[in-house]
Amino acid sequence: MATDTERRQEQAVHRMLEEYYRAGKPPWDTDVTPPELVALVDGREPGRALELGCGTGTNAIYLARLGWDVVAVDLVDRAVEQARAKAAAAGVTARFLCADATRLDEGEDEDGVDVPGRYDLFFDLSCFCAIPAHRRDAYVAGLTHRAATDAHLLMFGYGPEAFDDPISGVTADELRTRFTGWDLVDVTPGTNPVPTFWFTLRRT
Ligand SMILES: C[S@@+](CC[C@H](N)C(=O)[O-])C[C@H]1O[C@@H](n2cnc3c(N)ncnc32)[C@H](O)[C@@H]1O
Repeated sequence: MATDTERRQEQAVHRMLEEYYRAGKPPWDTDVTPPELVALVDGREPGRALELGCGTGTNAIYLARLGWDVVAVDLVDRAVEQARAKAAAAGVTARFLCADATRLDEGEDEDGVDVPGRYDLFFDLSCFCAIPAHRRDAYVAGLTHRAATDAHLLMFGYGPEAFDDPISGVTADELRTRFTGWDLVDVTPGTNPVPTFWFTLRRT
């Protein structure tokens, strides 16, 4: 059960994200698929993919074009609407849902979502690192329940030093602790001026 402070923290993050999309094109919305995702799927047989925090859908659309069966979720309805429009314009089929990546297990209610597994690939570009600490284990549980054997999670995250707020950031040690049943198989520093990392985890 979340405390009032935790609930307020979640609401503040949600409002901040909505404001980014309301204001126009958010700074992260580059329309460019990162080479790290391209490399991970290169030569790989397409399977089922779930993107967490898909924004306007650039990377979900990229995967769908390669033949992946894609579901992509984002907390912000405006982002999801744009993702659907982009996919339609590209003539690509992917399922975009407005949903909280930390509530995948809560069923189809006000906050929950029905996203049945199993997935071979999870992709998270800067979503987990913005999730308040008290929701992170629920995020991990949602993915773990839906992971096929040998499934991979490719995650990009900012280090805690990149922010001056008490919520954001992720470290390799945190992922090793939270992701039980997964191996952290690679950590590659990003090229940003602040600490960033590409994490690859594999479901054991
Ligand atoms: C930095 S943006 C990156 C968006 C997208 N991956 C891209 O590269 O353009 C992080 C995204 O995660 C979404 N997000 C944050 N917390 C979330 C949550 N709990 N559930 C679903 N999406 C979330 C935000 O709304 C935002 O679109």
